[in-house]
Amino acid sequence: MTINLEVWEDKAALYNRAVEIIANQLKNGATTFGLATGGTMEPLYEKLRNSSLDFSHCTSVNLDEYVGLSKTHPESYYTFMQQHLFDAKPFKATNVPNGEAEDVHAEAIRYENLLKSLTLDMQLLGVGVNGHIGFNEPGTSFESETAVVKLTDSTRSANARFFDSIDEVPEEAITMGISSIMRAKFILLIAVGETKRAAIEALLNGDVTEEIPVTKLRDHPNVIVLTDLKMN
Ligand code: F6R
Repeated sequence: MTINLEVWEDKAALYNRAVEIIANQLKNGATTFGLATGGTMEPLYEKLRNSSLDFSHCTSVNLDEYVGLSKTHPESYYTFMQQHLFDAKPFKATNVPNGEAEDVHAEAIRYENLLKSLTLDMQLLGVGVNGHIGFNEPGTSFESETAVVKLTDSTRSANARFFDSIDEVPEEAITMGISSIMRAKFILLIAVGETKRAAIEALLNGDVTEEIPVTKLRDHPNVIVLTDLKMN
């Protein structure tokens, strides 16, 4: 399939467009949203917080969570979602993997079963510098389901900016798998900044390869990519 690429060099316009896409989804009856965390999502959630959109009848399912951080840790994705979105925009139900479960492998299975019981009307995605989606690092099978995964050095150093030092960045996470993500009816990927250029070029022009997980989106029938990167 062709990817619907929209280049918005003005970041405010890019995020306004993302809000418009989500508003259209709501208008068309979407109730189940796959959500993401990370720096890319912060301006989007700020705009959603300040919008009049109502999610109180909706369910959210987050992509991932670090293993070993308590829910209340300032960098847990549970806390990120409360602070950036849910405190201001309540959902009927919210789901984030439990990274402090006693048996994290059992938690991954529980989460995948939850996902299979739902249909994601929309999945929001960022992309890693190395092309990861969720925390599915290069080399992950396209058939993967929700699992406990090891974070690469590249991802841990990219995320070290949120922690006091890289040693504090967890080594593992629970993440939706690539096949779990691909079941969403619609995918909105946002990629902002030069560090994401190689991943977006691979998505648009490269081979579909497990070495660059984001390229799998080429096989999805309904994807919009919003980026501020002018592509050649
Ligand atoms: C976050 C997630 C990750 C991020 C990616 C980009 O829930 O699953 O795939 O979307 O690491 O992170 P930022 O936006 O911080 O560059």
